Amino acid sequence: MRFLFYLRIKSFIKLFPVIIFFYSLCYVWLQFNDKHLPNGENEPQNYDLVEETSTSVYDVNFIKESIEIKNREQIILNSDKFGSLRANDTIIVIQVHNRIQYLTFLIESLKLTVGIEKALLIFSHDVFDLRLNNLIESIDFCKVLQIFYPYSLQVFTNTFPGPDVKDCPRNIDKQQALLMKCINAEFPDTYGHYREARYTQTKHHWFWKINHIFDYLNVTNGHTGFILFLEEDHYAAPDMLHVLHLMISNKLMLCETCDVFTLGSYTKSFNYALNANKVEIQKWSSSKHNMGFAFNRNSWNKVKSCAKKFCEYDDYNWDWSLQHISLKCLKTPLVTVAVIAPRVFHIGECGVHHKGKNCGNNKLVLKVKRTLSVSRNYLFPSSLTQQKVSKRVYKMSKVNGGWSDKRDHQFCFKHVKQVTRSVPH
Ligand SMILES: *[C@@H]1O[C@H](CO)[C@@H](O)[C@H](O)[C@H]1NC(C)=O
Ligand SMILES: *[C@@H]1O[C@H](CO)[C@@H](O)[C@H](O)[C@H]1NC(C)=O
Repeated sequence: MRFLFYLRIKSFIKLFPVIIFFYSLCYVWLQFNDKHLPNGENEPQNYDLVEETSTSVYDVNFIKESIEIKNREQIILNSDKFGSLRANDTIIVIQVHNRIQYLTFLIESLKLTVGIEKALLIFSHDVFDLRLNNLIESIDFCKVLQIFYPYSLQVFTNTFPGPDVKDCPRNIDKQQALLMKCINAEFPDTYGHYREARYTQTKHHWFWKINHIFDYLNVTNGHTGFILFLEEDHYAAPDMLHVLHLMISNKLMLCETCDVFTLGSYTKSFNYALNANKVEIQKWSSSKHNMGFAFNRNSWNKVKSCAKKFCEYDDYNWDWSLQHISLKCLKTPLVTVAVIAPRVFHIGECGVHHKGKNCGNNKLVLKVKRTLSVSRNYLFPSSLTQQKVSKRVYKMSKVNGGWSDKRDHQFCFKHVKQVTRSVPH
């Protein structure tokens, strides 16, 4: 009897990993089947943001209060274990909306990134959700800080920067709007449309976050090292920080005047044997270099000098706005050293505008993992070489609109601190 029982326990223990594995598969599959909003008419160009934020889960006052407290406390998790931030340590900032399934993969990839124990991870949220917060609090492999965009639609449910009942409807004609005397009647965008609050949040959040980190947050407002920008649906290669540090230490040799280091790439061919140690030097361009890029305070000061133009450009995309000021406002455009073979991948196919064939499963993540696995011998190059690129003609792309309301312009610019620290070279 006893012996049989023992046997059963033994076989159960053997089966246990298998059960867990299938359970995880089911879980992941279910997560990926989450419904996303259908494409809108005025669909975002290059990232995924427009899932309705659920406010029903938590009380608005609870959210407001929690945000206020957390932003004031600025608690850095695991600092006892990993020590304080040093001048040239890398900070990784992740802008988080609400896609927990992608964020889980990103965190998993960061855990495998060599050198992560020296980094500070900052998660910047525009949705207060205890599931996200708990997931992030469970990170044990480096220092972690969470900050919360205080002006989110979750908090401002019926006043600016959220939607206001007195706002003009998007598709109304200006003459009608003026007759109606709706608040923003004077400011239709380039295409004659009026503001939609939910499309403005990402650019506001992005700009609030970058100002907050460089100029306000205690632990970072004097930081001189590099800050790497990621989003919740990115995935990191294990040598991401290794390559970034190679770029930084070889800056003089590669490109003395470069401002930005780009670790992401939208390439579909992953020939690491050929390209793992290659970089190219180009003007920073939104459609090529908006994923996994890093810069330091010197570049921030350049960008900041054009903050007004950034905030007034009629485009609700932060990256197209950044490209605009780079080409039209800065004394010299932002120039980037960029990898040929990506060290940051985009896994968020199931967003707003890609209802692609890979939606509904985690094929893309598996593909990235497979790529990294078969290429593992080529990762961690010991040096970088520059690949000559053909001279490309940069034509400014068409403005996307959605950002013509004077309230957005002023609110965006309000986050800029009018004091500039310089960095010793
Ligand atoms: C941040 O810095 C300010 C000004 O020096 C100080 O009053 C405040 O206590 C600091 N907060 C934290 C959490 O360190
Ligand atoms: C960062 O600075 C420390 C000393 O302050 C130095 O030992 C280390 O090599 C530096 N790291 C890089 C990547 O420059």
